[in-house]
Amino acid sequence: MSWALIPLSEEQRAIQQTARDFADAELAPFTERWDRDGVFDRGIGEKLGALGFLGMLIPEAYDGLGLDTCTYLVALEEIAAVDASTAVLMSVHNSLPTQMLLRFGSEAQKQAYLKPMARGEWLGAFALSEPDAGSDAASLRTQAVRDGDHFVLTGVKAWVSHGGHADVILAMARTDTPDDRKGARGISAFIVTPDMPGFSVGKKEDKMGLRGSETVQLVFDELRVPVANLLGEAGMGFVYAMQSLDNGRLGIAAQSIGIARAALEHSVRYAAERQQFGKAIKEFQAIQFKLADMATRVAASRTLLHATAAAKDRGLPITQYGSMSKLMSSETAMWVTTQAIQIYGGYGYVKEYPVERLFRDAKVTEIYEGTSEIQRIIIARELYATS
Ligand code: CAA
Repeated sequence: MSWALIPLSEEQRAIQQTARDFADAELAPFTERWDRDGVFDRGIGEKLGALGFLGMLIPEAYDGLGLDTCTYLVALEEIAAVDASTAVLMSVHNSLPTQMLLRFGSEAQKQAYLKPMARGEWLGAFALSEPDAGSDAASLRTQAVRDGDHFVLTGVKAWVSHGGHADVILAMARTDTPDDRKGARGISAFIVTPDMPGFSVGKKEDKMGLRGSETVQLVFDELRVPVANLLGEAGMGFVYAMQSLDNGRLGIAAQSIGIARAALEHSVRYAAERQQFGKAIKEFQAIQFKLADMATRVAASRTLLHATAAAKDRGLPITQYGSMSKLMSSETAMWVTTQAIQIYGGYGYVKEYPVERLFRDAKVTEIYEGTSEIQRIIIARELYATS
Protein backbone atom coordinates (compact mmCIF):
# COMPACT_ATOMS: atom_id res chain seq x y z
CA MET A 1 0.00 0.00 0.00
CA SER A 2 1.38 3.40 -1.12
CA TRP A 3 4.72 1.79 -1.98
CA ALA A 4 4.39 2.93 -5.59
CA LEU A 5 5.74 6.38 -4.68
CA ILE A 6 9.13 5.00 -3.67
CA PRO A 7 11.14 3.78 -6.69
CA LEU A 8 12.67 0.54 -5.42
CA SER A 9 15.46 -1.18 -7.36
CA GLU A 10 15.25 -4.87 -8.20
CA GLU A 11 17.66 -5.64 -5.33
CA GLN A 12 15.56 -3.59 -2.89
CA ARG A 13 12.38 -5.39 -3.95
CA ALA A 14 14.11 -8.75 -3.48
CA ILE A 15 15.25 -7.78 0.05
CA GLN A 16 11.78 -6.44 0.84
CA GLN A 17 10.31 -9.78 -0.22
CA THR A 18 12.88 -11.69 1.86
CA ALA A 19 11.91 -9.59 4.89
CA ARG A 20 8.19 -10.18 4.25
CA ASP A 21 8.67 -13.93 3.88
CA PHE A 22 10.77 -14.04 7.04
CA ALA A 23 8.19 -12.04 8.98
CA ASP A 24 5.32 -14.23 7.79
CA ALA A 25 7.13 -17.49 8.58
CA GLU A 26 9.18 -16.68 11.67
CA LEU A 27 7.35 -13.83 13.41
CA ALA A 28 3.62 -13.84 12.60
CA PRO A 29 2.90 -17.22 14.26
CA PHE A 30 4.47 -16.06 17.57
CA THR A 31 3.78 -12.32 17.82
CA GLU A 32 0.61 -12.68 19.87
CA ARG A 33 2.19 -15.05 22.39
CA TRP A 34 5.38 -12.98 22.78
CA ASP A 35 3.19 -9.94 23.44
CA ARG A 36 0.86 -11.70 25.89
CA ASP A 37 3.61 -13.44 27.88
CA GLY A 38 6.30 -10.76 27.54
CA VAL A 39 8.71 -13.22 25.89
CA PHE A 40 11.96 -12.10 24.28
CA ASP A 41 13.16 -14.84 21.91
CA ARG A 42 16.94 -14.53 21.44
CA GLY A 43 16.73 -17.12 18.66
CA ILE A 44 15.03 -14.56 16.42
CA GLY A 45 18.22 -12.49 16.53
CA GLU A 46 20.15 -15.53 15.31
CA LYS A 47 17.70 -16.04 12.44
CA LEU A 48 17.89 -12.36 11.47
CA GLY A 49 21.67 -12.67 11.64
CA ALA A 50 21.65 -15.68 9.32
CA LEU A 51 19.82 -13.54 6.72
CA GLY A 52 22.46 -10.81 7.07
CA PHE A 53 19.84 -8.49 8.60
CA LEU A 54 22.09 -7.64 11.58
CA GLY A 55 24.85 -6.29 9.35
CA MET A 56 22.88 -4.50 6.68
CA LEU A 57 24.78 -1.19 6.91
CA ILE A 58 28.22 -2.67 7.60
CA PRO A 59 30.65 -2.89 4.63
CA GLU A 60 31.44 -6.35 3.25
CA ALA A 61 35.05 -5.90 4.44
CA TYR A 62 33.68 -6.23 7.98
CA ASP A 63 31.35 -9.12 7.11
CA GLY A 64 28.22 -7.01 6.60
CA LEU A 65 25.95 -6.72 3.57
CA GLY A 66 27.12 -3.18 2.75
CA LEU A 67 23.66 -1.99 1.77
CA ASP A 68 22.38 1.57 1.52
CA THR A 69 20.17 3.10 4.19
CA CYS A 70 16.94 3.00 2.12
CA THR A 71 17.24 -0.75 1.58
CA TYR A 72 17.75 -1.29 5.29
CA LEU A 73 14.69 0.81 6.12
CA VAL A 74 12.54 -1.01 3.56
CA ALA A 75 13.41 -4.33 5.23
CA LEU A 76 12.88 -2.87 8.70
CA GLU A 77 9.39 -1.63 7.82
CA GLU A 78 8.41 -5.14 6.69
CA ILE A 79 9.61 -6.65 9.98
CA ALA A 80 7.85 -3.94 12.02
CA ALA A 81 4.57 -4.41 10.16
CA VAL A 82 4.43 -7.94 11.59
CA ASP A 83 6.35 -7.67 14.86
CA ALA A 84 7.46 -4.28 16.16
CA SER A 85 9.42 -5.93 18.99
CA THR A 86 11.71 -7.69 16.53
CA ALA A 87 12.02 -4.42 14.62
CA VAL A 88 13.50 -2.65 17.66
CA LEU A 89 16.14 -5.37 17.99
CA MET A 90 17.03 -4.97 14.33
CA SER A 91 16.99 -1.16 14.52
CA VAL A 92 19.08 -0.79 17.68
CA HIS A 93 21.70 -3.35 16.59
CA ASN A 94 22.06 -1.95 13.05
CA SER A 95 21.87 1.75 13.92
CA LEU A 96 23.57 2.26 17.25
CA PRO A 97 26.32 -0.10 18.52
CA THR A 98 27.48 -1.32 15.11
CA GLN A 99 27.48 2.20 13.64
CA MET A 100 29.43 3.53 16.63
CA LEU A 101 32.06 0.82 16.14
CA LEU A 102 32.20 1.33 12.39
CA ARG A 103 32.58 5.10 12.60
CA PHE A 104 34.70 5.55 15.70
CA GLY A 105 36.27 2.17 16.52
CA SER A 106 39.92 1.26 15.98
CA GLU A 107 40.81 -1.41 13.42
CA ALA A 108 41.44 -3.88 16.27
CA GLN A 109 38.02 -3.12 17.80
CA LYS A 110 36.33 -3.60 14.42
CA GLN A 111 38.05 -6.94 13.90
CA ALA A 112 37.24 -8.12 17.42
CA TYR A 113 33.67 -6.83 17.86
CA LEU A 114 32.18 -5.41 14.68
CA LYS A 115 32.73 -8.47 12.50
CA PRO A 116 30.86 -10.99 14.69
CA MET A 117 28.12 -8.38 15.21
CA ALA A 118 27.79 -7.83 11.46
CA ARG A 119 27.57 -11.60 10.94
CA GLY A 120 24.76 -11.64 13.48
CA GLU A 121 26.61 -13.97 15.84
CA TRP A 122 26.80 -11.32 18.55
CA LEU A 123 23.97 -9.01 19.51
CA GLY A 124 24.75 -5.37 20.24
CA ALA A 125 23.06 -2.98 22.68
CA PHE A 126 23.35 0.74 23.46
CA ALA A 127 23.47 2.09 27.01
CA LEU A 128 23.15 5.87 27.29
CA SER A 129 20.13 6.60 29.53
CA GLU A 130 20.10 6.24 33.30
CA PRO A 131 17.26 6.28 35.84
CA ASP A 132 17.82 10.04 36.32
CA ALA A 133 19.17 10.90 32.86
CA GLY A 134 16.65 10.43 30.04
CA SER A 135 15.95 13.42 27.79
CA ASP A 136 18.84 15.21 29.52
CA ALA A 137 21.26 12.49 28.46
CA ALA A 138 24.37 14.61 29.16
CA SER A 139 23.52 14.60 32.88
CA LEU A 140 24.38 10.89 33.14
CA ARG A 141 26.30 9.93 36.28
CA THR A 142 27.93 6.54 35.67
CA GLN A 143 31.55 7.23 36.57
CA ALA A 144 34.62 5.73 34.91
CA VAL A 145 37.90 5.95 36.83
CA ARG A 146 41.24 4.94 35.34
CA ASP A 147 43.03 2.16 37.24
CA GLY A 148 46.20 1.05 35.42
CA ASP A 149 45.25 -0.64 32.17
CA HIS A 150 41.53 -0.65 33.06
CA PHE A 151 38.70 1.82 33.57
CA VAL A 152 36.47 1.03 36.54
CA LEU A 153 32.83 1.92 35.85
CA THR A 154 30.18 2.37 38.54
CA GLY A 155 26.56 3.26 37.88
CA VAL A 156 23.23 2.05 36.51
CA LYS A 157 22.19 2.25 32.85
CA ALA A 158 18.46 2.21 32.09
CA TRP A 159 16.06 1.35 29.25
CA VAL A 160 18.60 -0.86 27.51
CA SER A 161 16.90 -2.77 24.71
CA HIS A 162 17.82 -6.51 24.83
CA GLY A 163 20.54 -5.57 27.33
CA GLY A 164 20.19 -8.86 29.22
CA HIS A 165 21.00 -10.85 26.07
CA ALA A 166 23.53 -8.57 24.39
CA ASP A 167 27.06 -9.79 23.70
CA VAL A 168 28.46 -6.28 23.22
CA ILE A 169 27.19 -3.07 24.81
CA LEU A 170 28.26 0.42 23.81
CA ALA A 171 28.01 2.22 27.15
CA MET A 172 28.49 5.90 27.93
CA ALA A 173 30.14 6.93 31.22
CA ARG A 174 31.80 10.02 32.68
CA THR A 175 35.59 10.23 32.47
CA ASP A 176 35.73 13.77 33.89
CA THR A 177 36.20 14.12 37.64
CA PRO A 178 33.78 15.45 40.28
CA ASP A 179 36.16 18.42 40.75
CA ASP A 180 36.32 19.21 37.05
CA ARG A 181 32.98 18.50 35.38
CA LYS A 182 33.00 19.05 31.61
CA GLY A 183 29.30 18.51 30.80
CA ALA A 184 28.66 16.61 27.58
CA ARG A 185 32.41 16.67 26.86
CA GLY A 186 33.13 14.74 30.07
CA ILE A 187 31.50 11.58 28.68
CA SER A 188 33.31 8.69 26.96
CA ALA A 189 32.07 5.57 25.17
CA PHE A 190 33.16 2.07 26.22
CA ILE A 191 32.84 -1.36 24.65
CA VAL A 192 31.45 -3.55 27.43
CA THR A 193 30.90 -7.30 27.39
CA PRO A 194 28.83 -9.19 29.97
CA ASP A 195 31.79 -11.38 31.04
CA MET A 196 33.63 -8.36 32.49
CA PRO A 197 33.85 -8.49 36.31
CA GLY A 198 31.28 -6.18 37.91
CA PHE A 199 28.61 -6.55 35.19
CA SER A 200 25.08 -7.61 36.03
CA VAL A 201 21.60 -7.30 34.59
CA GLY A 202 19.17 -5.41 36.83
CA LYS A 203 15.45 -4.74 36.74
CA LYS A 204 13.48 -5.96 33.74
CA GLU A 205 10.76 -3.49 32.75
CA ASP A 206 7.13 -4.70 32.53
CA LYS A 207 6.04 -2.60 29.54
CA MET A 208 2.75 -1.47 27.99
CA GLY A 209 3.88 -2.44 24.49
CA LEU A 210 6.81 -3.95 22.61
CA ARG A 211 6.46 -6.78 25.09
CA GLY A 212 8.46 -9.14 22.90
CA SER A 213 11.45 -6.83 23.25
CA GLU A 214 13.44 -7.02 26.48
CA THR A 215 14.18 -3.73 28.26
CA VAL A 216 16.46 -3.86 31.28
CA GLN A 217 18.71 -1.91 33.57
CA LEU A 218 22.40 -2.79 33.57
CA VAL A 219 24.31 -2.50 36.82
CA PHE A 220 28.01 -1.64 36.68
CA ASP A 221 29.49 -2.39 40.10
CA GLU A 222 33.15 -1.47 39.74
CA LEU A 223 32.97 -2.96 36.25
CA ARG A 224 36.50 -3.48 34.92
CA VAL A 225 36.81 -2.44 31.28
CA PRO A 226 40.23 -2.69 29.59
CA VAL A 227 41.61 0.65 28.40
CA ALA A 228 41.72 -0.91 24.93
CA ASN A 229 37.90 -0.87 25.02
CA LEU A 230 37.63 2.91 25.15
CA LEU A 231 35.95 3.88 21.86
CA GLY A 232 37.67 6.67 19.95
CA GLU A 233 38.73 9.70 21.97
CA ALA A 234 38.04 10.20 25.67
CA GLY A 235 35.42 12.92 26.17
CA MET A 236 33.77 12.30 22.79
CA GLY A 237 31.30 9.61 23.86
CA PHE A 238 28.27 11.93 24.00
CA VAL A 239 28.97 13.32 20.53
CA TYR A 240 29.41 9.77 19.16
CA ALA A 241 26.13 8.74 20.81
CA MET A 242 24.29 11.75 19.32
CA GLN A 243 25.67 11.05 15.86
CA SER A 244 24.57 7.43 16.17
CA LEU A 245 21.12 8.48 17.34
CA ASP A 246 20.80 10.49 14.11
CA ASN A 247 20.86 7.07 12.39
CA GLY A 248 18.87 5.32 15.10
CA ARG A 249 15.98 7.71 14.69
CA LEU A 250 15.62 6.69 11.04
CA GLY A 251 15.21 3.10 12.19
CA ILE A 252 12.54 4.07 14.72
CA ALA A 253 10.77 6.02 11.98
CA ALA A 254 10.72 2.90 9.77
CA GLN A 255 9.44 0.86 12.71
CA SER A 256 6.68 3.43 13.28
CA ILE A 257 5.67 3.34 9.62
CA GLY A 258 5.51 -0.46 9.75
CA ILE A 259 3.20 -0.30 12.77
CA ALA A 260 1.00 2.37 11.13
CA ARG A 261 0.84 0.51 7.83
CA ALA A 262 -0.24 -2.69 9.58
CA ALA A 263 -3.01 -0.81 11.40
CA LEU A 264 -4.14 0.74 8.12
CA GLU A 265 -4.18 -2.59 6.29
CA HIS A 266 -6.15 -4.28 9.06
CA SER A 267 -8.61 -1.37 9.07
CA VAL A 268 -9.14 -1.45 5.31
CA ARG A 269 -9.97 -5.17 5.49
CA TYR A 270 -12.15 -4.86 8.57
CA ALA A 271 -14.14 -1.93 7.18
CA ALA A 272 -14.97 -4.01 4.10
CA GLU A 273 -16.15 -6.96 6.21
CA ARG A 274 -17.94 -5.32 9.11
CA GLN A 275 -21.64 -4.76 8.45
CA GLN A 276 -23.72 -2.16 10.29
CA PHE A 277 -26.96 -0.43 9.30
CA GLY A 278 -27.28 -2.97 6.48
CA LYS A 279 -23.97 -2.34 4.70
CA ALA A 280 -20.20 -2.64 5.05
CA ILE A 281 -18.92 0.22 7.20
CA LYS A 282 -16.48 1.22 4.41
CA GLU A 283 -19.56 2.61 2.63
CA PHE A 284 -19.83 5.36 5.26
CA GLN A 285 -17.92 8.57 4.64
CA ALA A 286 -16.98 8.78 8.31
CA ILE A 287 -14.91 5.62 7.81
CA GLN A 288 -13.68 6.55 4.34
CA PHE A 289 -12.32 9.86 5.60
CA LYS A 290 -10.47 8.12 8.41
CA LEU A 291 -8.93 5.57 6.02
CA ALA A 292 -7.96 8.33 3.59
CA ASP A 293 -6.23 10.35 6.30
CA MET A 294 -4.46 7.26 7.66
CA ALA A 295 -3.14 6.31 4.20
CA THR A 296 -2.03 9.90 3.52
CA ARG A 297 -0.05 10.14 6.76
CA VAL A 298 1.64 6.77 6.17
CA ALA A 299 2.64 7.74 2.63
CA ALA A 300 3.89 11.18 3.73
CA SER A 301 5.92 9.71 6.60
CA ARG A 302 7.53 7.10 4.38
CA THR A 303 8.35 9.64 1.69
CA LEU A 304 10.07 11.99 4.16
CA LEU A 305 11.97 9.07 5.68
CA HIS A 306 13.23 7.74 2.37
CA ALA A 307 14.22 11.21 1.17
CA THR A 308 16.17 11.64 4.43
CA ALA A 309 17.85 8.25 4.01
CA ALA A 310 18.83 9.12 0.45
CA ALA A 311 20.33 12.41 1.69
CA LYS A 312 22.29 10.50 4.33
CA ASP A 313 23.64 8.12 1.69
CA ARG A 314 24.76 11.15 -0.34
CA GLY A 315 26.79 12.22 2.72
CA LEU A 316 24.58 15.16 3.71
CA PRO A 317 23.97 16.06 7.38
CA ILE A 318 20.59 14.67 8.44
CA THR A 319 20.20 15.64 12.10
CA GLN A 320 17.20 17.89 11.40
CA TYR A 321 15.48 15.70 8.81
CA GLY A 322 16.15 12.61 10.92
CA SER A 323 14.34 14.23 13.83
CA MET A 324 11.52 15.35 11.50
CA SER A 325 11.18 11.80 10.17
CA LYS A 326 11.15 10.27 13.64
CA LEU A 327 8.67 12.89 14.90
CA MET A 328 6.31 12.58 11.95
CA SER A 329 6.41 8.79 11.69
CA SER A 330 5.94 8.14 15.40
CA GLU A 331 3.04 10.59 15.65
CA THR A 332 1.60 8.95 12.52
CA ALA A 333 1.88 5.54 14.21
CA MET A 334 0.08 6.78 17.32
CA TRP A 335 -2.62 8.61 15.36
CA VAL A 336 -3.21 5.85 12.82
CA THR A 337 -3.45 3.12 15.46
CA THR A 338 -5.90 5.30 17.44
CA GLN A 339 -8.09 5.66 14.32
CA ALA A 340 -7.83 1.91 13.71
CA ILE A 341 -9.23 1.20 17.17
CA GLN A 342 -12.08 3.64 16.49
CA ILE A 343 -12.90 1.86 13.22
CA TYR A 344 -12.92 -1.51 15.00
CA GLY A 345 -15.11 -0.06 17.77
CA GLY A 346 -15.45 -2.42 20.75
CA TYR A 347 -13.46 -5.08 18.88
CA GLY A 348 -10.54 -2.66 18.73
CA TYR A 349 -10.48 -2.47 22.50
CA VAL A 350 -9.96 -6.20 23.08
CA LYS A 351 -6.91 -8.36 22.59
CA GLU A 352 -8.65 -10.65 20.10
CA TYR A 353 -7.77 -8.27 17.25
CA PRO A 354 -4.26 -7.05 16.41
CA VAL A 355 -4.96 -3.29 16.42
CA GLU A 356 -4.97 -3.25 20.24
CA ARG A 357 -1.34 -4.45 20.28
CA LEU A 358 -0.36 -2.08 17.48
CA PHE A 359 -1.76 0.85 19.51
CA ARG A 360 0.30 -0.17 22.56
CA ASP A 361 3.42 -0.79 20.43
CA ALA A 362 3.05 2.61 18.75
CA LYS A 363 3.19 4.63 21.97
CA VAL A 364 6.86 4.10 22.74
CA THR A 365 7.93 5.39 19.33
CA GLU A 366 6.97 8.86 20.61
CA ILE A 367 9.24 8.31 23.61
CA TYR A 368 12.40 6.30 23.00
CA GLU A 369 15.48 7.42 21.05
CA GLY A 370 14.37 10.93 21.97
CA THR A 371 10.81 11.99 22.83
CA SER A 372 8.69 13.99 20.37
CA GLU A 373 9.49 17.05 22.49
CA ILE A 374 13.25 16.43 22.11
CA GLN A 375 12.83 15.97 18.34
CA ARG A 376 11.04 19.35 18.18
CA ILE A 377 13.88 20.95 20.17
CA ILE A 378 16.45 19.54 17.74
CA ILE A 379 14.42 20.69 14.70
CA ALA A 380 13.95 24.19 16.15
CA ARG A 381 17.63 24.49 17.11
CA GLU A 382 18.67 23.58 13.58
CA LEU A 383 16.32 26.25 12.18
CA TYR A 384 18.29 28.86 14.07
CA ALA A 385 21.66 27.23 13.35
CA THR A 386 21.06 27.30 9.60
CA SER A 387 19.13 30.59 9.22
N1 CAA B 1 25.63 15.16 15.91
C1 CAA B 1 26.87 15.55 16.29
N2 CAA B 1 27.14 16.20 17.44
C2 CAA B 1 26.09 16.50 18.23
C3 CAA B 1 24.77 16.15 17.90
C4 CAA B 1 24.55 15.45 16.67
N3 CAA B 1 23.33 15.05 16.29
N4 CAA B 1 23.94 16.56 18.88
C5 CAA B 1 24.72 17.19 19.80
N5 CAA B 1 26.02 17.14 19.39
C6 CAA B 1 27.18 17.73 20.06
C7 CAA B 1 27.04 19.24 20.15
O1 CAA B 1 27.51 19.86 18.98
C8 CAA B 1 27.88 19.56 21.37
O2 CAA B 1 29.23 19.54 20.97
P1 CAA B 1 30.26 20.68 21.51
O3 CAA B 1 30.69 20.21 22.85
O4 CAA B 1 31.33 20.68 20.49
O5 CAA B 1 29.50 21.98 21.57
C9 CAA B 1 27.67 18.34 22.27
O6 CAA B 1 27.24 17.28 21.43
C10 CAA B 1 26.60 18.60 23.33
O7 CAA B 1 25.43 18.90 22.64
P2 CAA B 1 24.26 19.83 23.23
O8 CAA B 1 24.86 21.04 23.83
O9 CAA B 1 23.26 20.00 22.16
O10 CAA B 1 23.71 18.88 24.40
P3 CAA B 1 22.41 19.00 25.28
O11 CAA B 1 22.77 18.55 26.65
O12 CAA B 1 21.78 20.33 25.09
O13 CAA B 1 21.47 17.83 24.69
C11 CAA B 1 19.78 16.83 23.32
C12 CAA B 1 20.98 17.80 23.42
C13 CAA B 1 19.42 16.90 21.84
C14 CAA B 1 18.62 17.26 24.17
C15 CAA B 1 20.25 15.39 23.70
O14 CAA B 1 20.51 15.29 25.09
C16 CAA B 1 19.25 14.34 23.31
O15 CAA B 1 19.21 13.91 22.14
N6 CAA B 1 18.45 13.83 24.28
C17 CAA B 1 17.62 12.66 24.07
C18 CAA B 1 18.41 11.42 24.37
C19 CAA B 1 17.92 10.21 23.67
O16 CAA B 1 17.52 10.23 22.50
N7 CAA B 1 17.98 9.07 24.37
C20 CAA B 1 17.59 7.82 23.81
C21 CAA B 1 18.46 6.73 24.36
S1 CAA B 1 18.47 5.21 23.46
C22 CAA B 1 16.98 4.46 23.79
O17 CAA B 1 15.97 5.08 23.67
C23 CAA B 1 16.94 3.04 24.23
C24 CAA B 1 17.00 2.02 23.16
O18 CAA B 1 17.72 1.04 23.29
C25 CAA B 1 16.10 2.13 21.97
